[in-house]
Amino acid sequence: MVNAAEEIKSRCNIVDVVGRYVRLKRSGSNYMGLCPFHSEKTPSFSVSEKGQFFHCFGCGESGDVISFIEKIENVDFMTALRKLADMYGINLDDYGFTNESRKNRLYGMNRDAAVFFLHSLADRPNPGRDYIMGRGLSLKTIGRFGIGFAPDSWNALLNYMKSKGYEEKDLAEGGLVSYSKGRYYDKFRNRVIFPIINTRGKVIGFGGRIIGQGEPKYLNSPESAVFSKRNNLFGLNLTRDSIKERDCAIIVEGYMDMVSLFQNGVTNTAATLGTALTPDQCAMLSRYTKNIVLSYDADSAGRKAALRGIEVIRQAGLSVRVLHVPDGKDPDEFVKKHGREAFEELVENALPYVDYKLAHERSMVDLDTQNGKLGYIKGAARILSSISPAEAEIYIKKVTDETGMQEGALRAEIRRASDAGKQREPVFREPADREQDELSPVSEEDLRLQKTMIGILAKAPSTLPEVSKYESIFTDPACFRIYNTIKELIKDNNALDADTAADSMDAEDARVFLEITGSTALDCEPDLLLRDCIRGIREKELRRKNEFLHKELMLMSENDDDRITEIMGQMKKIDAEIQHLRNSAGE
Ligand code: UTP
Ligand code: MN
Repeated sequence: MVNAAEEIKSRCNIVDVVGRYVRLKRSGSNYMGLCPFHSEKTPSFSVSEKGQFFHCFGCGESGDVISFIEKIENVDFMTALRKLADMYGINLDDYGFTNESRKNRLYGMNRDAAVFFLHSLADRPNPGRDYIMGRGLSLKTIGRFGIGFAPDSWNALLNYMKSKGYEEKDLAEGGLVSYSKGRYYDKFRNRVIFPIINTRGKVIGFGGRIIGQGEPKYLNSPESAVFSKRNNLFGLNLTRDSIKERDCAIIVEGYMDMVSLFQNGVTNTAATLGTALTPDQCAMLSRYTKNIVLSYDADSAGRKAALRGIEVIRQAGLSVRVLHVPDGKDPDEFVKKHGREAFEELVENALPYVDYKLAHERSMVDLDTQNGKLGYIKGAARILSSISPAEAEIYIKKVTDETGMQEGALRAEIRRASDAGKQREPVFREPADREQDELSPVSEEDLRLQKTMIGILAKAPSTLPEVSKYESIFTDPACFRIYNTIKELIKDNNALDADTAADSMDAEDARVFLEITGSTALDCEPDLLLRDCIRGIREKELRRKNEFLHKELMLMSENDDDRITEIMGQMKKIDAEIQHLRNSAGE
């Protein structure tokens, strides 16, 4: 660590660093400015370039570049080092001061804590053990998941971990202890503990359930360097093989649902961690299956989560159905009562997402009233305008049967919804959504484009807002995963370190990513390259849009005069836009 600090001090110039915060003026061999640490009207804050230190003649503050950052940013020594390293592009990994070693420390710490919780559950008598066995979990299941117990104490874990040589502030960083009024204390007290283990077998966090009634029912580890809720699914470490084998993943909301299904033999499941399903989670799942079944609670929060989940899953190019557990039960209660086969029958009968969305629209209106019918038709049209025409055909029949509406009127409504949708979206998405060709391989040209965009983003992270407007181009699963990973890293850090990014990908993605960032094709200006790419994307969209209009035109009959004129007009406009784009190339 000393080495890292020395290296940083030798590489930064204190005048530059202080100059970022304080307006400095040369005065003899030193620099002077208004002191940032006390308020003053005439400068008494001096910086010595030769000595690489600062000193204020007014308030007496003084120190080197690292302590300047500590004071002005109000951070500790390590954080100050990291900030300076970032400013100067110094890789701290070379000094054993690595993200990796920090992460490994957290992994080890979590593992030790998990062992403590596990042992605590073995003690008898023990309310945690009684509670969880009372909920029907067998000792085998408890062992399989490493379920534990946090005793009703303010410092049982703290003392145990200290005896293992851990420091309080590290335990706090990992979210195992909290800090208040000068004291550290155990975060999890008198709770059943579910360790959250990632697919590489590392303990990354914990969920703690209260024993019996109380708030909050579940307490989760905070996000840390190793724990990201949006990047992990509970149970996937045990179930991915089964998910792959059955070619289907059942996603539930709760720890207990997941564990209970597993114990009862429904082993192709995983649970979100108290948040809606994310693109990253879909990308993870897509390595094992393309078929997702959502099994959320039937309450309004669960329905909302399902509707959002549907969109995220479809965006990821996966297929999704929604399972309904009858009688307002959750999967845990249902499978406990009726067993595996009954639950698997529910899975079998899970609704294709379009049916689910239609049913949802229907549940919000009264089809016996004129207004209700109208509302339903508008909602249905919106849904049907976003799926492939072939698929829509099936549902058009269903909806007209349900409402007694004329088919022509529904079709007109769908067209209108589709136009409105197009105007809203920056990137044109043809109504024949990707569903159909989701399995067809991505063309060489598209793949190159996607890789180039990733390269641009990696090289110039500030292009993220622009690139993200076109994120629907990432149709290749690997590119999609890589894009999402670096997007989140850029959002978190406002910068991107290629090696760190590669570390958070699986080996194959990391290889592709490093190949992209190492490629010489990216040697030119990222902004110019981005402009070229965007021009290419736009032109392609326009051509696809034209093709689609052309198809629509072919399907028209003479009675559709107005629509035909409209389409011809649109096609002409698109041609002009394409011409314009081509003319502007190379400007
Ligand atoms: P539920 O409230 O549906 O609980 O929360 P559950 O799964 O049925 O739990 P049991 O059966 O009563 O034990 C579902 C999930 O939402 C998150 C947890 O991840 C939980 O598993 N949650 C819930 C929290 O994070 N905090 C809470 O206070 C409640
Ligand atoms: Mn429950």
